[in-house]
Amino acid sequence: MIIAVDGPAASGKGTIARALARHYGLPHLDTGLLYRAVALNVLREELDPEREADAVASCDFPDSLLADPQLRTDEAGRVASVVSAHPLVRAALLQRQRRFAQQPGGAVLDGRDIGTVIAPDADVKLFVKATPTIRAQRRHAELRKAGQNVSLDRVLADIRARDDRDARRSEAPLRQAADAALLDTSFLSIEAAVQRAISLVETRA
Ligand code: C5P
Repeated sequence: MIIAVDGPAASGKGTIARALARHYGLPHLDTGLLYRAVALNVLREELDPEREADAVASCDFPDSLLADPQLRTDEAGRVASVVSAHPLVRAALLQRQRRFAQQPGGAVLDGRDIGTVIAPDADVKLFVKATPTIRAQRRHAELRKAGQNVSLDRVLADIRARDDRDARRSEAPLRQAADAALLDTSFLSIEAAVQRAISLVETRA
């Protein structure tokens, strides 16, 4: 069974994807980490994320980089959303994601274009959303817990900018696949959102 979970930043898609993977005993790939790894390479080599050639030169990285805690910073996320708009970067990361999706027994992948581009034939597609204000509050709380001192306004502005870039890019923009079930987590606890996701999988798989 292939489960595709898409949605914007801090919508809850990562938490839901991890919980589904645990529940069904499937391997899980957070595809945002791949774009964050490219971003981290760009930052470390002091390259220009707006230049497609610089970003493409940063796409060849070992799986071990995916465990780097620096991938989780706000800066890596922001630069990831810049490099991910380049068509050649998306092409360079495509096979890696498809191979993961097509392993025997299935997989759960979360990202922006899993249901539309990476695994259009996924058995179950979920599109997870929440209002920008609620997503900003969640991300703000996470950042504070991690010791990063940023204002809520700044986090909200970042979320809006990221949504805008992800939805407007010409290559694989963030959008709900026609056959994806919508899951709005705005007013759900994590437990309730996961329960809802499991029941959507049960009715669709
Ligand atoms: O999900 P996360 O915040 O880690 O993703 C970082 C950035 O990577 C996103 O803002 C988006 O631009 C990009 N991304 C993407 N396609 C995916 C996953 C992430 O373009 N499948």
